[in-house]
Amino acid sequence: MSVRPIHLLGSPVLRERAAEVEQVDADVRTLVQDLFDTMRADKGVGLAANQIGVARRVAVVDTNDGEPPVVLINATVLEREGRALQEEGCLSIPDVYADVQRAYRVVVETTTLAGGRERVEATELRARAILHELDHLDGVLFLDHVSPLKRRLLLNKWHRLRRGKPGLLKEVSAAAVEE
Ligand code: NI
Repeated sequence: MSVRPIHLLGSPVLRERAAEVEQVDADVRTLVQDLFDTMRADKGVGLAANQIGVARRVAVVDTNDGEPPVVLINATVLEREGRALQEEGCLSIPDVYADVQRAYRVVVETTTLAGGRERVEATELRARAILHELDHLDGVLFLDHVSPLKRRLLLNKWHRLRRGKPGLLKEVSAAAVEE
């Protein structure tokens, strides 16, 4: 397993539109495993490749609620239904949370690790996490979905929390995975 450092708000790769994956090869499979390892080590429910510095359209979601984990490779949203307002955070913006409105239910189509295409239907937290991760791959952060005033308050908090902490990488301890 390989736990990778996570890029924090301010790192340019988080604002990049990630490139399509042309072929699901060994590199992509390793990337997916590293995403799961890093996400679980940092106790998240989703992680996108650009959060570990790789601008490719790959992300993972695992909501730990009995639903199967989701691997997203070149995924597209086919259906969005309903509306839900829930508090959200992001492993790239630790300790900052805000209510974000998202669809209640989504259907996405994604490339599988075997190279085929499959549809995944999700509701509630799982749908929210999928949409949050797909946003990442377009360079969009959850803060972009809150009002300008609220965003300014949250950014002020972020800068306060980061004061005296140089760098835009967060080292994640692998120990959490083995608990
Ligand atoms: Ni995030």
